[in-house]
Amino acid sequence: MLKRLTVINFRNHKLRELAFEPGNNFIYGENASGKTSVLEAICLSLLCWSFRTADAGETVNFGAEQATIESQLSAGGEEMAACGRFRTLISRTGEKLVCFINGEKKNKADLIGLRKLVFFTPDDLQAIKAGPQLRRRGLDIGISQIDREYFRALKNYRRIIRQRNVYLRNCRGMADRMVLDAWDRQMAMAASLINERRCEAVEVINGLCREIMGQIVGRDEISVVFEQERAGWEYFYRRWQNEREKDLVRGYTGWGPHRDNVKIRINGNDARAFASQGQQRSVAVVLKLAEAEFIGRKTGCMPLLLLDDIFSELDGNRRKSLLAYLADRNIQVIITGTDRESCPSSERVNAIMLD
Ligand SMILES: Nc1ncnc2c1ncn2[C@@H]1O[C@H](COP(=O)(O)OP(=O)(O)OP(=O)(O)O)[C@@H](O)[C@H]1O
Ligand SMILES: [Mg+2]
Repeated sequence: MLKRLTVINFRNHKLRELAFEPGNNFIYGENASGKTSVLEAICLSLLCWSFRTADAGETVNFGAEQATIESQLSAGGEEMAACGRFRTLISRTGEKLVCFINGEKKNKADLIGLRKLVFFTPDDLQAIKAGPQLRRRGLDIGISQIDREYFRALKNYRRIIRQRNVYLRNCRGMADRMVLDAWDRQMAMAASLINERRCEAVEVINGLCREIMGQIVGRDEISVVFEQERAGWEYFYRRWQNEREKDLVRGYTGWGPHRDNVKIRINGNDARAFASQGQQRSVAVVLKLAEAEFIGRKTGCMPLLLLDDIFSELDGNRRKSLLAYLADRNIQVIITGTDRESCPSSERVNAIMLD
């Protein structure tokens, strides 16, 4: 569990030290007090990656050259490798991110899956409102944290697609069929693994979402459906063979797992088109809770859950049952909100004010 966080010259925080407890923590403060930044610091510290920016240099306080984030993690069922002092140095320029665990320098790959983290930010609402890309991304982040094979297959698949697309674009009708054939075989192998794991994950997540939604909002029914059926590598290989002439005309790979879609329905209707604002937010949060549960069941260790601004747009009953659900789970949660009162007082919460 995360016990303590210290940030220096990070975003608007010159120096900030926060102490967390197991179970529910609630950080509150006015707009621009730096709540989202605290969650971002935790994310950078544990994953060496920010949900907010691809350029970590941006997070260094305007008046400084370097930011420091330090997290103190204690064992609580987690693997020993993921305990102790995580220290991240961020520079405005040059090598921007350097991470240490207990004084030992680590690279990004070492941190993947080490300390599991699930976070919700209001941007995740786009995963419900927009096209399939963000839902795919959410699925990829979730599975990659617990499955290195998946992470490798995905990297491999993306690399081949990139090369194949450059080749298709440059050669079009002149492309060498033998070269494409070799790529298609490799791509099909990676694709079938990706497909298998995505199908499995969505199936489990669908069951979990139904269960959690039932506990939080009894009358709304949710379903999460993966649109691509389970298929072996031969299926992918054959399909790319059949699509080849079209790909040669298009100049890119038009079909494959990079186009997979996950559909989310609420009470039988597409959530994207028919859910209300509060329903969309509930669905987006429930998806994250299901992801956390999925990771917990797969690894035997619940991830740290970061929920940025989840209470706005939710009515009092939804807030209460959401918090009660969280309090029932053996999970550490950090929630943010603008007002102390927005967090129901029905459950035990460690409230932290940012001023
Ligand atoms: N590199 C930086 N240096 C200094 N300040 C920054 C930097 N980057 C962002 N800020 C400022 O930090 C402040 C805190 O932003 P943050 O998004 O964390 O606030 P918040 O508490 O989540 O607000 P809200 O309630 O509106 O979501 C903002 O005023 C932002 O402009
Ligand atoms: Mg915020």
